[in-house]
Amino acid sequence: MTPTESEPKPRWPQVLVFSLIGVVVLLGFVLVWRLTSQPAAAGESRVDALANSTDRCVTCHRQASPGIVAQYGHSSMAAAGVSCSDCHKVEANYPGAVQHEGVWVLPSPSTAVCQRCHQAEVAQYNQSRHGIPAWVAVVGSKDLPPDILAAYQAIPEGQFAPDKSRNILAEMEGEDITRFACETCHSIGKPYADQSIGQCSSCHLRHEFSLEQARKPETCNACHIGPDHPQWEIYQESKHGIAYMTGGHRWNWEAEPGTLTVKDFPAATCAVCHMSGFGGTSTTHDVGERLSWYLFAPVSERRPSWQDNVVRMQSVCQECHNDNFIKTFYADADKATTAVNDFVLQSQAIMKDLRAKGLVASEPFSEPIQFEEYELWHHWGRTAKFGVWMQGPDYTQWHGAYEIVKALAHIRTLAEEKLNAAGK
Ligand code: HEC
Ligand code: HEC
Ligand code: HEC
Ligand code: HEC
Ligand code: HEC
Ligand code: HEC
Ligand code: HEC
Ligand code: HEC
Repeated sequence: MTPTESEPKPRWPQVLVFSLIGVVVLLGFVLVWRLTSQPAAAGESRVDALANSTDRCVTCHRQASPGIVAQYGHSSMAAAGVSCSDCHKVEANYPGAVQHEGVWVLPSPSTAVCQRCHQAEVAQYNQSRHGIPAWVAVVGSKDLPPDILAAYQAIPEGQFAPDKSRNILAEMEGEDITRFACETCHSIGKPYADQSIGQCSSCHLRHEFSLEQARKPETCNACHIGPDHPQWEIYQESKHGIAYMTGGHRWNWEAEPGTLTVKDFPAATCAVCHMSGFGGTSTTHDVGERLSWYLFAPVSERRPSWQDNVVRMQSVCQECHNDNFIKTFYADADKATTAVNDFVLQSQAIMKDLRAKGLVASEPFSEPIQFEEYELWHHWGRTAKFGVWMQGPDYTQWHGAYEIVKALAHIRTLAEEKLNAAGK
């Protein structure tokens, strides 16, 4: 027997198992370390301003609704000392107040509540189509209380409402449905019980009130989507949207309002073009303030103070593009808008002739040619125009202009059939 033979052989299977366990444990540690040391998302990086609060609402709601307290604690409003009661507590006789733990609260704080501290934003909002015009678009103006009606009539850009047939569409569908449809989007301008207007929480999801969330284009896509106003889809295929989707996670979403530059936002978002203070243009909650056309109309017309509006929008563009590029783009887009108008005018002329001859049903939305007429401008005409102005070539072309041409051919055929049948 040689000494070497008596030595126990290394037991490879056990060694392997032990080193594998070692590696797994080590990987586990690495994983836990990685997870706990992830950079905190915006907002989470803020301290919880309510952590040591002795406020009665806070201490009880930490049990009753911990999510709300945690969210609000990390907001900049909580850091600035705004309390639950500042938004929720009201006098007993306040419209909509409910009794709660010995005080009176609003379950749903109204715009009048925000207005106490944010007068400028509310005043701008009230001048915009996000205000009462958005609500009138669905329910009409005939049942508005006198004060609200007067406010509505005083909005310069508010009353352009060329076609009331959509109110009839809402009636046809019935309130059981429209509550979840038209109203969900158009409640952005719905009056509260205290008659103040608008829903700030359409964009400022409570209780975070985070700038990042309000500024991201997904916030707008809650409503600006679908065949009649596909701004979100168009944005996604635009260069601006591509820049957002490929690099947006590096942008400075919490930058101080009014001071935004191309360093914070290398490309445009919905908010940058329509709301943010950017370059020479100041922050606004009047989303019509930078628009020159009524693009949503069947035949687009200029807005009351469109030249000033163009200056405001173009000074946003000019932070990132040269003047000549933008002026040329506007001239071309104006021409495309007029070209879409011409198609809609052709369709209107055919329908006008048929109506004069008594060949179209008097009730809207009751025969195929009326749906064709409606979709031509309401879906395809708008889509083509939005595609032009926000750089979505597929929407301008295949979801827009092509559908217009096709619908116009169909309207012509249906009109001829009607004329033949009537012996004309
Ligand atoms: C002793 C505990 C307690 C205190 C104190 C308290 N709440 Fe509440 N609150 C609750 C509970 C529990 C609910 C949920 C009731 C339910 O789900 O039906 C609630 C509901 C609410 C609601 C929703 C009411 C509704 O009708 O939808 C609001 C708003 C509210 N609380 C705000 C406040 C404010 C503001 C304060 C401080 C002035 C406060 N609460 C103090 C326990 C409390
Ligand atoms: C800046 C104003 C503001 C502050 C401050 C605020 N809330 Fe609210 N709260 C709102 C708004 C707006 C709503 C939503 C109303 C709606 O959806 O129509 C709401 C809704 C609620 C509701 C009912 C809705 C639900 O989801 O259950 C509760 C409960 C509530 N808040 C509790 C609190 C508590 C507790 C605090 C303090 C930690 C607080 N709120 C601070 C504005 C505020
Ligand atoms: C009692 C006064 C008060 C009320 C009421 C109030 N706010 Fe504020 N809000 C503030 C203050 C103060 C700030 C500034 C915080 C800062 O800049 O650090 C602020 C900031 C904000 C911001 C910017 C957040 C940020 O991160 O810069 C939003 C959005 C906002 N409020 C929305 C609302 C809405 C919506 C309502 C009504 C539901 C409301 N506020 C009601 C006082 C108030
Ligand atoms: C997905 C959200 C959404 C739904 C659902 C919706 N709308 Fe709209 N509506 C909008 C948006 C966004 C615009 C603005 C389009 C623009 O300015 O380009 C608009 C524009 C309008 C307009 C034109 C503007 C005006 O004031 O004249 C009318 C009228 C209208 N909608 C009525 C309705 C009716 C009626 C329904 C239900 C049958 C409805 N909408 C359903 C989001 C919606
Ligand atoms: C259509 C979406 C939308 C609605 C609705 C909306 N906001 Fe805003 N809000 C924004 C955006 C986006 C910003 C950030 C603007 C920027 O980029 O600087 C903002 C910023 C703010 C700020 C911070 C502004 C500053 O200069 O510090 C306040 C305060 C505010 N909103 C209050 C309100 C109030 C009050 C209402 C309701 C009357 C309201 N918002 C409704 C989108 C909205
Ligand atoms: C809750 C639904 C909703 C959300 C969220 C929303 N909008 Fe709107 N928006 C509407 C409706 C409805 C209209 C049409 C109102 C009308 O003309 O009657 C509208 C109209 C507009 C208009 C045209 C205004 C005019 O004068 O014709 C612009 C621009 C606009 N929105 C931008 C935005 C931006 C940017 C955001 C995101 C920061 C946003 N909206 C978020 C519902 C919404
Ligand atoms: C690069 C800037 C830019 C971006 C990004 C942008 N828009 Fe626009 N938007 C415009 C311009 C320019 C117009 C047409 C202006 C005019 O009428 O002069 C317009 C028109 C609109 C209108 C039509 C209003 C009407 O008259 O019917 C709505 C609604 C709108 N935008 C919403 C949005 C939404 C929602 C987003 C994001 C999904 C968005 N926009 C992204 C620049 C932009
Ligand atoms: C914050 C910066 C920024 C703002 C503001 C901005 N853009 Fe842009 N824009 C860009 C970037 C980045 C590109 C992509 C450039 C490229 O293709 O390399 C772009 C591309 C474009 C294109 C070319 C699209 C294509 O398909 O090639 C047009 C047209 C355009 N922008 C128009 C506008 C208009 C009109 C405005 C104002 C209403 C505007 N932009 C505002 C950054 C911006």
